[in-house]
Amino acid sequence: MTDVHTTPDIARLSGTFAIGGDLPVHRLGFGAMQLVGEGAWGEPRDRDEAMAVLRRAVELGVTLIDTADSYGPEINELLIREALHPYPENLLVTTKVGMLHPGPGQWEARGTPRHLKQQVESSLRNLGLERIDLLQLHWIDPEVPLSEQLGALVELREQGKIHHIGLTGVTREQLRSARAITPVASVQNEYNPSLRRADDVLERCESEGIAFLPWAPIARGELARPDSPLAPLAAEHGVTPAQLALAWLLHRSPVMLPIPGTSRVAHLEENMAAASVSLSEDEVERIAKFLAV
Ligand SMILES: NC(=O)c1ccc[n+]([C@@H]2O[C@H](COP(=O)([O-])OP(=O)(O)OC[C@H]3O[C@@H](n4cnc5c(N)ncnc54)[C@H](OP(=O)(O)O)[C@@H]3O)[C@@H](O)[C@H]2O)c1
Repeated sequence: MTDVHTTPDIARLSGTFAIGGDLPVHRLGFGAMQLVGEGAWGEPRDRDEAMAVLRRAVELGVTLIDTADSYGPEINELLIREALHPYPENLLVTTKVGMLHPGPGQWEARGTPRHLKQQVESSLRNLGLERIDLLQLHWIDPEVPLSEQLGALVELREQGKIHHIGLTGVTREQLRSARAITPVASVQNEYNPSLRRADDVLERCESEGIAFLPWAPIARGELARPDSPLAPLAAEHGVTPAQLALAWLLHRSPVMLPIPGTSRVAHLEENMAAASVSLSEDEVERIAKFLAV
């Protein structure tokens, strides 16, 4: 496995995917949610470390950073701006709207057009951007017709405030309904080697060339622990369980863009080194079968 210290932009080794056909990113990205306080709420546990994680991610070749207006709320986007603005030309900071976050660990979909538009304005300001290149609808609000939620985003696109639209937490059927209203550049669903209920959505993304961003790619840290079910296979391979989980995802599909989250530079470096781990098709199958038991 390649060392992060000898290959400064190691995330590049994960390959490139062009989101929406015109936003090329290295496939191994970074999810920023862990940088704010417990339950995605409030200030970071260690502000200096949070800044260092963001800057190190870019040094290591990360060109895709995932955030949301609701992480903090707002604090996550403000940290990204403080650490990285003016952004490198090749960096895509993607954010999400459509979720209320009234307290630590509390989430509520809110997809009224008025709310979505207000959140996009807030994200533009917080991130210091004139346009959000990939704006994701954080959750489909069951109380608001999908055509109204996506209609608001289409209007924002027509006004030049956003470029591509992505979805998160969707079923295959919801993806189909959304695509009848607007092109969809990305889908973000919970997915990792031990939780693959979104396989049907992934298949559709693959056949349509839609980026698939698995959230919780290391099962919120469960797959990284010493007692991870991946630990024996990882040891056989000479990698850590977190690296094996991420390498498995990268090998699982060419449209897969994992966004592992961490609040620590050491974990970030470990995770990014997964970009250089090679697995054969047999090994990918074996890991899938092993974890399906
Ligand atoms: N669309 C949605 O609804 C949604 C929902 C949840 C998350 N997300 C996005 O997806 C991203 C990833 O998901 P996630 O952060 O929930 O889960 P994750 O990436 O699967 O795991 C993050 C957890 O794993 C730990 N960790 C990371 N690397 C490690 C390593 N090498 N060794 C040991 N522990 C490690 C982190 O702790 P440390 O901080 O101590 O490293 C953290 O507790 C988020 O950051 C967010 O951007 C989206």
